[in-house]
Amino acid sequence: MLLRIPQALQPDELAQVRQLILAADWTDGRITAGSQSGAVKNNLQLPEDLPAAQQARHIVSRALARNPMFVTGALPKSVYPPLFNRYGGASNYFGDHIDNAVRTHAATARHVRTDISCTLFLSEPASYDGGELVVQDTYGEQRIKFAAGDLVMYPGTSVHRVEPVTRGERLACFFWIESMVRADAQRRLLYEMDMAITALREKEKVQVARGAAESAEIVRLTGCYHNLLRMWADV
Ligand code: NI
Repeated sequence: MLLRIPQALQPDELAQVRQLILAADWTDGRITAGSQSGAVKNNLQLPEDLPAAQQARHIVSRALARNPMFVTGALPKSVYPPLFNRYGGASNYFGDHIDNAVRTHAATARHVRTDISCTLFLSEPASYDGGELVVQDTYGEQRIKFAAGDLVMYPGTSVHRVEPVTRGERLACFFWIESMVRADAQRRLLYEMDMAITALREKEKVQVARGAAESAEIVRLTGCYHNLLRMWADV
C-alpha cells in the first residue's frame, strides 16, 4: 500500500525543521547504506547525532505521533529515528535499491524491521527539477513528488530510487517503521476497514450528538476490525 499523508508537518514545523537542518554540517549519504545501495547512492545526509538532527527529529516524531492517518496506516510498533537527506549539485541521485530488511540504531542497539519505508518531503516541488521518488510496485512505477510537509509511506519490500535533481535542491526526511502487522496486504485491509468505519461514523454523528446510540452495524464492524487486529498484531 502506498499512502500519502498530506501536511504531516504543519507549516511552522516545516519551517523550523528546514531552518535547523539547513544550518547544519552534512556528510556523504553512504554512511547508512548497505553494500548494494552504497554503490548507487550519491547524496548528502545529516549525521544522526548532531544536535540539529536531534531537534529536527523530535519535531517530526511529535507530529507523526498525533497524526491519526499515520497511525492507522502504519500501525507502528517501532519507528527508526528519522534521518535527513539532501539532493542537489554533484550529490543528486540514489539509484534502484531495496532498503536493508533490518536497521540497527547505533545509539541504542535496537533493531527495527523495515516493513514500511517513509519519505517526508521538505522542499516545495516547484523549487527543484527531478528528484522524484520512483517506487516499483505490482501496478507499475509510481513517481512521487509531493508538497513540502507531505509524507509518503510504501512497502519496504519495494525497489525504489530517487531521480537525479537537475535544478535546485531536494531536502527530505526518511525513516522506517516496524509495524504491529507485518504483512502489507493485512495492513491494507485494516486501513480500508478503518476508513470505512470512520466514514460511516461521520454519517451518524448528528444523530449520535443528539443522544442516539451508534448503529449495531458500526458496533459489529468495529468489533471485526479489532478482532482482525488481535489475530494479526504482534506487539
Ligand atoms: Ni531507500
